[in-house]
Amino acid sequence: MEAFTELAQRAEQAFGEARTPAELEDAKARFLGKSGEVTAQMKQLASLGADEKKARGAEINAAKQRVEALLSARRQALAEAELALQLRAESLDITLPGRRRGSGGLHPITRAMERIEAIFGSMGFEVADGPEIETDWFNFTALNTPADHPARSMHDTFYVEGGNVLRTHTSPMQIRHAVRHVKAHRAALDAGLPMPEIRVIAPGRTYRVDSDATHSPMFHQVEGLWIGESISFKDLKSVYVSFIRAFFETSDLQIRFRPSYFPFTEPSAEIDMMFGSGPLKGRWLEVSGSGQVHPQVIRNMGLDPERYIGFAFGSGIDRLAMLRYGVADLRLFFDGDLRFLSQFK
Ligand code: PHE
Repeated sequence: MEAFTELAQRAEQAFGEARTPAELEDAKARFLGKSGEVTAQMKQLASLGADEKKARGAEINAAKQRVEALLSARRQALAEAELALQLRAESLDITLPGRRRGSGGLHPITRAMERIEAIFGSMGFEVADGPEIETDWFNFTALNTPADHPARSMHDTFYVEGGNVLRTHTSPMQIRHAVRHVKAHRAALDAGLPMPEIRVIAPGRTYRVDSDATHSPMFHQVEGLWIGESISFKDLKSVYVSFIRAFFETSDLQIRFRPSYFPFTEPSAEIDMMFGSGPLKGRWLEVSGSGQVHPQVIRNMGLDPERYIGFAFGSGIDRLAMLRYGVADLRLFFDGDLRFLSQFK
């Protein structure tokens, strides 16, 4: 009997030392397995006499039951410990705020474009769209900038296959739209009847080999074009001033037209603006190129420059958006950083 008490104690200790179910099974084998201690005791019974066999058999059985009970108690303890561990690992803090599906928003440049379209729309301008891979003709030559023209070097152009370019400005849209418009009104023109005016803006992506805090190789411009029989610089001024005031929702700003040069306009002007208050108060900021459309460009549109005249402008949308939203680095618009973008939702 003494021997079996000791055996049960050793089993209890061995089971207690098992840290995992696998270790416990190993310990079990040492006592209850085929060559385990309890089994060995059973085997010895065969060599005993009937009475002794009975007495000792009962003791061994009792010991075996004791070991089995210890085993299942330890099994359960290990299983519970494992469950507790798992529960802790998977625990939910039900006091945390719920996770919502994030809602997106329009990109600030898209918002600026929509504002521009709405404002010019209210002044009777259509919105046109065109290709970003442009032919040399539309991007340069039709705009009075032939192959050997020094003004070509004003643009650091991305050339692509087939002699095409990534458009360096939205000005090719002047020609594309005007040619389409003239074609649609060819019959009236041929009959000497007046043609409805061309009044269009064309916002979109443009490309130049250029990259720093205020230049990105991909940027946005909006082209404006108004052609009729008596559209003058005065109209350009009034349209542009109205636009800028509406865009920035203030009349507390000044606009100046600074003489400049573009091959496709004559005379040409750079448009600068200055806020009357706020952090940029008193600083002239360039926002657009502009001018009266050059007679050769009018001709390339399929119109008679003796009869048709008008103005064009090309403004930097990114610059306008930076000023409106107070963004100091242009590259923030194109990095795709949600911390920046989500501020515009
Ligand atoms: N296309 C010119 C530029 O990108 C801007 C411009 C447009 C100037 C229309 C005059 C008229 O610099």
